[in-house]
Amino acid sequence: MSPVITIDGPSGTGKGTLTCLLAERLGWQVLDSGAIYRVLGLAAQRLGYVLDDPQPLASLAGVLPLQFSDGKVLLDGEDVSDAIRTEEAGAAASRVAAHPSVREALLEWQRRMARPPGLVADGRDMGTVVFPQAPLKVFLDASPEIRANRRYKQLKGKGLDANLPRLVADIRERDARDLSRAVAPLRAAEDAVLVDSSQMSIAEVLDRVLEEVRRVF
Ligand code: C5P
Repeated sequence: MSPVITIDGPSGTGKGTLTCLLAERLGWQVLDSGAIYRVLGLAAQRLGYVLDDPQPLASLAGVLPLQFSDGKVLLDGEDVSDAIRTEEAGAAASRVAAHPSVREALLEWQRRMARPPGLVADGRDMGTVVFPQAPLKVFLDASPEIRANRRYKQLKGKGLDANLPRLVADIRERDARDLSRAVAPLRAAEDAVLVDSSQMSIAEVLDRVLEEVRRVF
């Protein structure tokens, strides 16, 4: 199997940015596993599915017409890159992701993304469930307030509506659901390198992880 670096942690820690920078530096592929759950949530909502009913969601997950192409996320050929980034899409993703059968249906799809020369995989369970043999696992964390603040700036930067106290509440709620679910709860793999990005710039986080890359590969 091609080498894999897993980057897990809650949302708003800079995982996505770190994953892209690292993959660019190494010339490796990227797996944004959160985008898969977001697309599934969006597709399910459009079809009028109930997000708490696992069976139709798992069937949909098995045939989801999802593609990552040139930095864009496509659902049945439609560019949904922006549509999946709303807070609502994040909440829907977290609800569909709580079903074991849905996660199971997406497992092989994710594993097939490990192609040469290597893969940087971003998510919640990359190191614990999807790629447990990965030689380098990183768990990136930061306080909920700092993460909400970053998200606030991101949304405002895109000219979108944002409310800081609501973002803090949403982040806490999503964390609670991701941490407490029965299958693949958000937690660091035992052999993960823990990095708290609360007081670090993204450049500092990248340097810290590159140190580990040099140590492992
Ligand atoms: O990382 P992102 O915020 O895009 O993920 C959206 C949601 O998808 C998360 O809150 C989580 O519930 C779910 N997710 C997951 N497992 C992953 C990636 C994301 O359960 N590997």
